Amino acid sequence: MLKGCGRRLLLSLVGALLACLLVLTVDQRQQLRQRLPQPPAAEELPGGEVGRRALQSLAGPSEPQRQGPPPPPQPQEEPAASRAGASGPSGDVRSFSEYFGQLSRARRDVGPLPGVAPVRDSVPRPQMEQLFPRDVFIAVKTTKKFHRSRLDLLMDTWISRNKEMTFIFTDGEDEVLKQHTGNVINTNCSAAHSRQALSCKMAVEYDKFIESGRKWFCHVDDDNYVNVPMLVKLLSSYPHTQDVYIGKPSLDRPIQATERISENKMRPVHFWFATGGAGFCISRGLALKMSPWASGGHFMNTAEKIRLPDDCTIGYIIESVLGVRLIRSNLFHSHLENLQQVPKSELHKQVTLSYGMFENKRNSIHMKGAFSVEADPSRFRSIHCLLYPDTPWCPRNVVY
Ligand SMILES: *[C@@H]1O[C@H](CO)[C@@H](O)[C@H](O)[C@H]1NC(C)=O
Repeated sequence: MLKGCGRRLLLSLVGALLACLLVLTVDQRQQLRQRLPQPPAAEELPGGEVGRRALQSLAGPSEPQRQGPPPPPQPQEEPAASRAGASGPSGDVRSFSEYFGQLSRARRDVGPLPGVAPVRDSVPRPQMEQLFPRDVFIAVKTTKKFHRSRLDLLMDTWISRNKEMTFIFTDGEDEVLKQHTGNVINTNCSAAHSRQALSCKMAVEYDKFIESGRKWFCHVDDDNYVNVPMLVKLLSSYPHTQDVYIGKPSLDRPIQATERISENKMRPVHFWFATGGAGFCISRGLALKMSPWASGGHFMNTAEKIRLPDDCTIGYIIESVLGVRLIRSNLFHSHLENLQQVPKSELHKQVTLSYGMFENKRNSIHMKGAFSVEADPSRFRSIHCLLYPDTPWCPRNVVY
């Protein structure tokens, strides 16, 4: 009798506790949701926290791990160096990319938002200029750790056909790599995946491009396949002397950030940027105008001013400072989108492709191709054989 009563009491206590927790959680979510439309005012939070929190509020409830009260404001501005240490390798940048990826995905599910300009490359454009391999500068950003696992695949596939155009930007010496191409640049930047290290590499890429005298600058990552004939076709439809910035935005709305205008004065800014993971290109005409904010040590200073990753900093200089609009292209692809959705019949027309992980699943383009998924998980060898069937290692008589 007593035992039964005790158990019932215990059960109802547990029940009440659970109900209480549920109410608290719902309440917290509502509070968070109410806070969402207003990014924190610049005066509230000194330093980089502002930009970061604005981003977090953008990502909103679509990312469950991020729910809960935002981190408390930092009472004191930290020196840049100590903040960099605090964010650690693969800190900020990865999570930013994740916010963007998840955000765009969440938006795609509800269809396009009003005010989003249509993609401009749905119809083929006429040729403006004839381009030669020596006119295009393709910078591939990598790190020594990925020379064997990622770069060798690119060297075997698309780079092998386009060595004159392609420049590898890395952070360590590699004699094996140098045997395959003379265009290896040791940036001497840190191998960390921090915001500063990535900006350091982008700064060297920019300077080397300007030095090269070429007409077009394109940046890709070491997990991108570049369909060079399609890239050249796209670029030759624009004049390189005018202002051209082309790529795929990873958000479906402008990024909100905060610009430091003096020691303790911040100002909110918003602008579009092309995601570095899908690759993007800039005309020489525009690149030269970027010089005061991008050349020499200036790129690092600019990136520090808005405390955002390298690709966002490029967008900031072009859109926010110079007032030039990003031309959106859906021919560029990063691993932060569902690559299975690239139609099989359109694969050969894409400018860049990628592979990797997306929402904890292996992400790659869907194609039958010359090799099995086990033998060619990135599908890059298969796409390469589709585009260049005369490659010696490609099997003959494959039906696609
Ligand atoms: C990196 O350091 C080496 C050795 O000091 C130097 O030769 C090279 O020019 C540096 N690279 C860059 C991009 O500054």
